[in-house]
Amino acid sequence: MNCLLLYYTGTFNTRYITQKLKLRLEREGWNVSTYEIDPLNNERLDFSAYDIIGLGSPIYGFAAPYAFLKFIRQQKFPAGIKAFIYKNSGETYHANDASSKYFLRKLHKDKVDVQNEYHFMMPYNIHFPFDDYCIREMMEMNKKLLEILVNEVKNGIPNLSPYKLWPRFVTTVVARPQYIGGDANSFLYHVDMNKCIDCGLCIKRCPTQNIYRKPSKDGRGEFAFHHNCLMCMRCSFFCPADAFDIGFLEDWGWHVNKKGGYDYRKIEQMPLDEPFVTNSTEGFFTCYCEKYEAINKRYRELFGNKPVENPDWAPSPVSERWKEENSRVTALKHSDRTYKQAKAFYIDSLFSE
Ligand SMILES: Cc1cc2nc3c(=O)[nH]c(=O)nc-3n(C[C@H](O)[C@H](O)[C@H](O)COP(=O)(O)O)c2cc1C
Ligand code: SF4
Ligand code: SF4
Repeated sequence: MNCLLLYYTGTFNTRYITQKLKLRLEREGWNVSTYEIDPLNNERLDFSAYDIIGLGSPIYGFAAPYAFLKFIRQQKFPAGIKAFIYKNSGETYHANDASSKYFLRKLHKDKVDVQNEYHFMMPYNIHFPFDDYCIREMMEMNKKLLEILVNEVKNGIPNLSPYKLWPRFVTTVVARPQYIGGDANSFLYHVDMNKCIDCGLCIKRCPTQNIYRKPSKDGRGEFAFHHNCLMCMRCSFFCPADAFDIGFLEDWGWHVNKKGGYDYRKIEQMPLDEPFVTNSTEGFFTCYCEKYEAINKRYRELFGNKPVENPDWAPSPVSERWKEENSRVTALKHSDRTYKQAKAFYIDSLFSE
C-alpha cells in the first residue's frame, strides 16, 4: 500500500504524531511518504503514486488551520482515492468534533473516499502549558488510538459519523474569525526588548516570514509584523527569552512559552504510575475522561485485554547535533545571556529534525 501523510504543523505536535504514524504503518509493510505543508509553497501535488492519503492537522478555533484548508483546496485529488484524517488538539470537547468540515467538503467535491477520522490528544501551544505527567498519560492513550486507526484503516472499517448540528455550528461561528484572526492580531504583537536576546530565531522560523525588524533610534532594530500571520504560535512558543506578547490573546492569559518545546523524548521515558485523569477529575480535564473511556472501549472491542505493544512509540531517534546542543545548553547557567543564546541555537536545531 502506498500511503502519503500530508500534514500541516505549527509547533511540531502534528509532525510528532505523523512520525509515529509513519513508523507504525511501515511496520504493516506499507510504503509511507510524508509531506509537510509549507504555507508559502502553493504547489499542486501529484497523488497518482498513492493508494491512500492520511491528512493531519492541529485544530485552531474548532477548525482546521486556514493554511491547511487553503493547501487542500488548491489540490486536485484523484476521484475515488481513499483518505483518512488524523487531527490533534489540546482539548477533547465535542466542540472540536466538526473541525474538519470545511476541508471535507473539498474532498467530497473531488470524490475522495474519506471513511475514517481520529482525534489525537496533544498539549496546548496556546492557552496554558500541560503538565508532563498528564502528557505521558495522553501518549499512552494516543498509542491505543493509533492501534485502532491502523486496524480500522487497514481493514476498511469506517470510523466517521456525520457531525452533530451543534459542533458544526461552533466550527462555523469560530472558524471564520480564526481565518482572519492572525492577520488582525499581528497588529497587536509586541516584543519586549528588555527580554529579547536578538537571536533571530523567530524571524528565521516564522513559516510566513511575517516578522521583520525595522530601523530604530537605538540602532538595534524594532520588531515589526506584516499581516500574514497563521497564529501558529511558533514565534512565542519557542522564543528562548519568552519575549513575545501575543496580542489580544495575551490579555486572556493564553500564552504558552516552551523554550525547547514539550520534551517528548523525556516524557516518553517517564514511568506511568497513578492515573492523572480519573472519574473524580474536576475542571478542564474532565473532558478527557469520556475520551479515554471511548478509546479504551474501542480498543477492547478490537484487541481484548492485549496490552499495547508499539515499539515505534519508543523514544524518537536523537541526532548527534541534538545531543551536542543539548549537553552544551545543559552545562550553562539558566539565567545568563549565553545560556539563552545557546538555547536559541539548540531550538533552531530541533526545527530541522
Ligand atoms: C490559534 C490556535 C487555536 C487553537 N484552538 C484550539 C481549539 O479550538 N481546540 C483545541 O483543542 N486546541 C486548540 N489549539 C491547540 C492546538 O490544536 C494544539 O496545541 C496542537 O497540538 C498544535 O499542533 P502543532 O504543534 O502541530 O501546531 C489551538 C492552538 C492555536 C495556536
Ligand atoms: S526569538 Fe525571542 S529572543 Fe530571539 S529574536 Fe525573537 S523575540 Fe528576540
Ligand atoms: S508571526 Fe508567529 S504566530 Fe504568526 S505565523 Fe509567524 S511564527 Fe506563526
